[in-house]
Amino acid sequence: MKVAVLGAAGGIGQALALLLKNRLPAGAELSLYDIAPVTPGVAVDLSHIPTDVKVKGFSGEDPTPALVGADVVLISAGVARKPGMDRSDLFNINAGIVRNLIEKCAATCPKALIGIITNPVNTTVAIAAEVLKKAGVYDKHRLFGITTLDVIRAETFVAEAKGLNVDNVRVNVIGGHSGTTILPLLSQVEGASFTEEEVAAMTKRIQNAGTEVVEAKAGGGSATLSMGQAACRFGLSLIKGLQGEANVIECAYVEGNGEHATFFAQPVHLGKNGIEAVLDYGKLSAFEQQAMASMLDTLKADIQLGIDFVK
Ligand code: NAD
Ligand code: LMR
Repeated sequence: MKVAVLGAAGGIGQALALLLKNRLPAGAELSLYDIAPVTPGVAVDLSHIPTDVKVKGFSGEDPTPALVGADVVLISAGVARKPGMDRSDLFNINAGIVRNLIEKCAATCPKALIGIITNPVNTTVAIAAEVLKKAGVYDKHRLFGITTLDVIRAETFVAEAKGLNVDNVRVNVIGGHSGTTILPLLSQVEGASFTEEEVAAMTKRIQNAGTEVVEAKAGGGSATLSMGQAACRFGLSLIKGLQGEANVIECAYVEGNGEHATFFAQPVHLGKNGIEAVLDYGKLSAFEQQAMASMLDTLKADIQLGIDFVK
């Protein structure tokens, strides 16, 4: 298994690379790429950790050498928010970065599973799909927006609020990855019940959790360590699926059946070809139905922006 991280010298990239160096299966390869010249040094640094995972680092304008033979590509290249910004304010810079990197993936590792972290995820995933389509290699089972951070936040906050063991708390988060498009399905959490006020407050906290970190870092960027953890969990799940492990399920922002929007975060069953099945997310409460209805225009506009950018 070869995993490439693009944006590997950044806050998320370095945390993710450290976790992958320690947690990838024995014999795996980790390929790090960033425009920052420090990247080969990051790889040398990691290579002194005694695990059976080979690490190579690449910098410069062209990611191609890092992508040769990649089974999984995780992309966190791009700029992060500062206080007062929305994720959509990152579009002007990050759209072009994602387009260029995906063009290289299409040319070099068209069968790889691609996970996009770079914001605005609602839009960058649509950009990636259009670029892959243009290159004639798009497979909707192989492209993912990584929304695992919303899931781990929801699980952490619910466990804290309800005094539960977080290892036993599972929360599906559906929709997209910004503001009201983030919809945690609190009505389905086993072993926890919430009043209407609690549901409203907890939903808002999960939707604003990214901003909570951006404000706490006070101009020093957005979530990096928790995102490294989230991306590592998701990347390892992609690999477990590729290796044929049964019952690998994660929420991710994918092209599903288009019932609500072309791309929609929901639980997916991962396997040897990426998405084996997009799973039903169950029955929504009245609150969740209302939240879903009111997010869809935003989500669809975010997606259209990505499609128009490439066209
Ligand atoms: P960062 O600034 O610490 O790191 C970004 C890295 O990208 C830098 O090392 C930079 O050199 C590199 N880079 C820029 N252009 C590049 C290019 N063309 N090719 C390769 N590398 C390039 O930022 P960060 O905190 O790691 O965040 C990265 C992105 O992830 C941001 O867009 C942020 O909003 C997003 N993010 C997403 C989630 C999520 O849940 N999906 C969570 C947190 C952050
Ligand atoms: C997050 O949810 O933490 C990320 O999307 C980064 C951000 O800008 O909030």
